[in-house]
Amino acid sequence: MTLHWCRFNRPSGRKKPSAFILKYSEEGDLVLDPMVGGGTSAIEAKLLKRKFIGIDINPNSIDTVRKLLNFDGEYEPEIIVGDARAIEKIKDESIDLIITHPPYLNIIKYSDGIIDGDLSNYSSPNLFLKEFEKVILELKRVLKPNKYCAVLIGDTRKRRHFVPLAYMVMSLFLKHGFILKEDIIKTQHNCKSTPQWKNVKMDFYLIMHEHLFVFRKPNINENLSDYKWSMKI
Ligand SMILES: C[S@@+](CC[C@H](N)C(=O)[O-])C[C@H]1O[C@@H](n2cnc3c(N)ncnc32)[C@H](O)[C@@H]1O
Repeated sequence: MTLHWCRFNRPSGRKKPSAFILKYSEEGDLVLDPMVGGGTSAIEAKLLKRKFIGIDINPNSIDTVRKLLNFDGEYEPEIIVGDARAIEKIKDESIDLIITHPPYLNIIKYSDGIIDGDLSNYSSPNLFLKEFEKVILELKRVLKPNKYCAVLIGDTRKRRHFVPLAYMVMSLFLKHGFILKEDIIKTQHNCKSTPQWKNVKMDFYLIMHEHLFVFRKPNINENLSDYKWSMKI
């Protein structure tokens, strides 16, 4: 069975989607991943009896995910080619949980610059953030009030200096009215910098982590002053 890498034999980071889906949604809820990539979230959602919509701009990803989902489940996920910046097929306030993992600029190029609109085409943080802001607006539109949106994102370097891309993305969510519920640190192993740090006996990491930000969309008529320190940039 092709699921071993994901469900039973995955590296520690792979546990996150199922733990997260279990914590923030119920059986039968509708989960969305607008950048579904290799399909981890889709497989977990199906195994956990959630309805699921997975979107990716790259048709190759969609083919792969559809094949991986060839097992029995309570609900059949809908896996479609699309652009996360314009998901008009999805109705306003229809989604119970969003879980997504966008490209980190062009650190990994998912379509080698061939697919127009692929966010991994952008090397400039400015251009990337301008396009990603369109994604955030769509996510806010489709998410039900008082429900959660989780984004896994990392940082990078330019000219040998740190670029806090993750915090830039977090700021954009706050700018658009989301409330920061959690900033979960996911350690990453086997990065380019790992060998430099492997034998250093200190509790420091040099970009060996990603952030799993969990945002909550405010409820209708909620008193937001209670959360003002989780909404400030
Ligand atoms: C980091 S990967 C997702 C990995 C995924 N979490 C997994 O389990 O494999 C980012 C994905 O975003 C997709 N992507 C980039 N720009 C997009 C856009 N505008 N709309 C939808 N998907 C996009 C890429 O094709 C890529 O598959």
